[in-house]
Order: sequence, then structure tokens, then C-alpha cells
Amino acid sequence: MAVNRAYCWHLVVISLGVTLTVYILVISDQLAFFPQFKNDVKTIYVWDRPEWLFMKMGPSVEEFRKLQCEISGCRLVDRRSYPEEKLHGADSILFTIRDFYAERPERTNPDQIWVLWIRETPLHYYPIDLDSLNDVFNLTFTYLNDSRTDIYSPVGKIIRRPTARRYHPRNVEFVRNKTKSVAWIVSNCWSRGQRSHYVDELSKYLPVDIYGRCGLNCTRQGQYCMKMIEKDYHFYLAFESMYCRDYVTEKMYRTLSYDVIPVVLGGADYANAFRPRSYIDVRDFRSPKHLARYLTSLMKNPEQYLDYLEWKKSYMAIPYCTQSLCDLCKILHNPDYGYKSEFQLDKYWDPDEQCLYGHREREALHL
Ligand SMILES: *[C@@H]1O[C@H](CO)[C@@H](O)[C@H](O)[C@H]1NC(C)=O
Ligand SMILES: *[C@@H]1O[C@H](CO)[C@@H](O)[C@H](O)[C@H]1NC(C)=O
Ligand SMILES: *[C@@H]1O[C@H](CO)[C@@H](O)[C@H](O)[C@H]1NC(C)=O
Ligand SMILES: *[C@@H]1O[C@H](CO)[C@@H](O)[C@H](O)[C@H]1NC(C)=O
Repeated sequence: MAVNRAYCWHLVVISLGVTLTVYILVISDQLAFFPQFKNDVKTIYVWDRPEWLFMKMGPSVEEFRKLQCEISGCRLVDRRSYPEEKLHGADSILFTIRDFYAERPERTNPDQIWVLWIRETPLHYYPIDLDSLNDVFNLTFTYLNDSRTDIYSPVGKIIRRPTARRYHPRNVEFVRNKTKSVAWIVSNCWSRGQRSHYVDELSKYLPVDIYGRCGLNCTRQGQYCMKMIEKDYHFYLAFESMYCRDYVTEKMYRTLSYDVIPVVLGGADYANAFRPRSYIDVRDFRSPKHLARYLTSLMKNPEQYLDYLEWKKSYMAIPYCTQSLCDLCKILHNPDYGYKSEFQLDKYWDPDEQCLYGHREREALHL
């Protein structure tokens, strides 16, 4: 988690310079156009601020402006910066499902917009009775790319590469310098998914080095580890712990910013979400053995290996965690937005509909 956060903040900090200019040129212009925004700051109370959500983001509206939102007259507060007695007066309360279950406030203000931000899969909460959560929230953010999601909120995005962030292409020597085959970082030693079985199978044909809490020592996780992996390894296993529709975590976007080919396993629509030839999907192979054969052939063919880095000349991966907050801020400022969440949690949050697990997952992975 610390890694994801650092990664997001890294981007925010980099864009600070740009923001300042954009702010002066665009935002201040907007303020002139819509003078009411100057004083009309919406307060978003984060019910139990989850660690992934901008721990460092203070309660001032300036912090929101740094996100470069189209409309940024909002501030994030939580119980540390905002007395709970004033909760009634907040424009919006942002919940995660776990926090909501643990402890929920009374709804005393009918104008207050209750927002649910779902980042985890139905398997994370299974089995759970979700009926009681229908008709509680006015807005739902999810990672599901579906029309019933009020605000589509993916964790990352592939964008056209800005000229200012040119990619420096790698050469054959760079690939030849990679001496090892496959790396995997696992922080969670036990995994409900079938991914460990897949790795066991794969490692019969190709060495797989496992780093993390129950594997090899990679001093600090995150940046240092990925730098080492980029230098030494041909492939990185960007395996999701749960095989659920549209579910892909930051780890995939993070991997794409290094020059190592991600091998993916998960229920996301990778072909839609990522550039062609930017990853290798295990589902495209009849078995782990067939995948191993293909990876081996790429290791012997640096030119072909480099094909998988070509896309970086025109595109790049970015973490996209800030966009949802911008979207929320914009909606809160729109008096015509008709809050009617189409998202029915009990129907939608069904692991059997959303996820493959157990023998169905094994079948999908040709295990
Ligand atoms: C938000 O949802 C609650 C519960 O369904 C409802 O009572 C309230 O009127 C809704 N607020 C708005 C602004 O639609
Ligand atoms: C490959 O490795 C050699 C020896 O460590 C190093 O001098 C060279 O810069 C490396 N080349 C690339 C492209 O990384
Ligand atoms: C991991 O690396 C750190 C730093 O090099 C070292 O202090 C620690 O003893 C190592 N742990 C293991 C289990 O090797
Ligand atoms: C979301 O769905 C739309 C429509 O099916 C598709 O065009 C788009 O590529 C999808 N986005 C992602 C990230 O999968």
C-alpha cells in the first residue's frame, strides 16, 4: 500500500509545476467566469479515510486544486480535521464498504450526498449481506466498466505520451543484459486465487524468482525492487490475486512504467484497457507449459522482446487515482445532477457473476 501511495504522490508532485501554470491560466479564468465557486467550497467528509486515499492530502481547498481538476472547489476532511459534531453540515460523505459495515453514521441531513467508493472485488467481502446497502448511497464509484456504475473509477489509465515525457527506447544489449527469466513479488503469502498453482506449474519449465514477505529479500519493495527487476529480468508476473471482471490493480500500471514485460492473469478486459503488445496474457496459452515455451523464445530473440516495448514510444501508463475525486467535486457543484444511483449492490456484487474462483478459475487458466 505504501508503494501505491508513493507512486500516486510521485505523479502529483511531478505535475506540481505544470499545475501552477495551468492553474493561473485556466482555473483562475474559470473562477472569473463562475465567481460563485470562489466561496462555494464543497466539503467531502471521508468517513474512515482508507490508507490508499491521499493520507497526506490536507483539509484545505488548495490541496484539491493541485489535482488539476476541471472544477476544484472542494476539500477533503476526516475526523482528524473536522469535528464529528459538524458532520451534519458536510456536503458529502465518502465511504468504503468495509468502513460502512464497521460503523455507520445516522443520516440526519437529506441533502448530504453519500458516496460509496468500491475498489475491491465481491470476493473480498464474500459472503456478506448487501441487501441493506441498497438505496443508502446517492452515488457509487466502482472499477466496473459498466453503464450501471455512476462513476467509473479505474485505478490507472493509458494515455498518449506527452512530448515532454519522451521515451528513451531500449536496445538489444539492454535485453541481452537481462540474465534472469521471471520475477514475481507477493506481499500476501496465502492467496485465494489459483495464481500460486499457475506459478508452480510455470516454474517447472522456467525459473520463477519470488520476492516479498514469503520469498526472496528485496530490501525495500517498490521502486528499488522494480528497478532491479527491470535490469535483471525479462518478465514480471502482474498476477491479480482475484480473478474478477474489470479488476486490475495499480501493480499492473506500475509495471508498465518499467522496461520489463508484464505477464498478466486476471479477469480484466486487458485488450480494451491496455495497448496491444504491451503485456502477455496467460489466457492466450493452452497451458503454463505453452506459455513457458513462448517466454523462452522471446528471451532468445531480443528483437522480438523489444516489440513489447514499442508502444511506449507513443503511450504511457499513469495512475489515475485523482480523477474520481475530480468527478465527485464536479458533480457536487452541479445543481442539476439527479442523484439516483443505479447501482444495486445486492444484485451486482455477486461473486458468482463477477468472479471466477475454485475449479472455474482453474479451467479458465488451463490448470
Ligand atoms: C440520497 O439518498 C437518500 C437515501 O436513498 C435519499 O433519502 C436522499 O433523498 C438522496 N439525496 C439526494 C440529493 O437525492
Ligand atoms: C550492459 O551491461 C554492461 C556490463 O554491466 C554495461 O556496461 C552496459 O551499459 C549495459 N548495457 C545496457 C544497454 O544496459
Ligand atoms: C534483507 O535485507 C536486509 C538489508 O540488506 C537485511 O538487513 C536483512 O537481514 C535481510 N533479510 C533476510 C531474511 O535476508
Ligand atoms: C470500457 O468499455 C467501453 C465500451 O465497452 C470500451 O470501449 C472501453 O475500452 C472500456 N475501457 C476499459 C478500460 O476497458
